[in-house]
Amino acid sequence: MTVHEPSPVVNESSSPQQVSSHQSEPLVKVEGLHKWFGKLHVLQGLDFEVRRGEVVVLLGPSGSGKSTLLRCINFLEEPQKGRVTVGGVTVECGRWGRAYQRAVHAVRLQCGMVFQEFNLFPHKSVTENIIEAPMLVKGMSKEEATKRARELLEKVGLSDRADYFPSQISGGQKQRVAIARAMAMDPQLMLFDEPTSALDPELIGEVLKVMKDLANAGMTMIVVTHEMGFARDVADRCIFMDGGVFVEEDTPEHLFFHPREERTKQFLRHILPKAEDSVERHPGGGGAPLEFDS
Ligand SMILES: Nc1ncnc2c1ncn2[C@@H]1O[C@H](COP(=O)(O)OP(=O)(O)OP(=O)(O)O)[C@@H](O)[C@H]1O
Ligand SMILES: [Mg+2]
Repeated sequence: MTVHEPSPVVNESSSPQQVSSHQSEPLVKVEGLHKWFGKLHVLQGLDFEVRRGEVVVLLGPSGSGKSTLLRCINFLEEPQKGRVTVGGVTVECGRWGRAYQRAVHAVRLQCGMVFQEFNLFPHKSVTENIIEAPMLVKGMSKEEATKRARELLEKVGLSDRADYFPSQISGGQKQRVAIARAMAMDPQLMLFDEPTSALDPELIGEVLKVMKDLANAGMTMIVVTHEMGFARDVADRCIFMDGGVFVEEDTPEHLFFHPREERTKQFLRHILPKAEDSVERHPGGGGAPLEFDS
């Protein structure tokens, strides 16, 4: 079994803020990734890389495999074939045993994930939600974890909600807590699976704004979203996938306005009018309306 243990610290001296994404090494490398659910071949041999500090937006029709791909990168789902490397840790998929489990655990520790449905513990306060994993998984003291939680809550603009319970805050606030919770583990990579699609339209902008701040601070992010304004302003690259394969990838401008593949064109025709509308509705997170130049 080829399981490369993590290099202890991956290029600490080169923080994402200091290194342009084009010069830096890939943080994420996915090679020949396959996932089946029974007979359903959901990911059909995917290859891609994400450099440190890069923001990649993944889009595609329902059922194309976007969530499955994110879940395979942090091994919430186990791919049957291929290789996933995150931050110097490589997992050969389809294996088992202690070395495999150790590598999977090491990859998971480097990935923070934010889901459409927040997934906060309802019986725990905002702070308790954030400190749980660092205490349990990283053995952080309660004091240290609480201090970090306070800093993160300030970053997501929720210092005044530290002692509230999830039922007492809005959907947008819940999602910002979920982002703070994921960040509390100090991940190298953040995975977002349609983080705004369960939100009322007026709450979307505040979550996109937090994500934008995170991207500007140099976080490496893979984001499944159809928020085209966000993609245009924040993404370095967009990948369009359909039927478990990558159809086309490019800069947002090129992919949205000059797609090469017919499947991409069809999909964009379907979503772009809505995307343009959604940017108008919450410009705070998405920027100015999309302009068509063709
Ligand atoms: N746990 C599972 N068991 C069986 N089939 C699954 C499972 N999870 C996903 N699938 C199937 O895999 C395919 C890809 O699903 P996935 O959730 O990755 O799509 P998606 O692109 O995220 O779609 P959406 O935009 O609706 O979220 C779908 O056909 C789905 O029904
Ligand atoms: Mg999905």
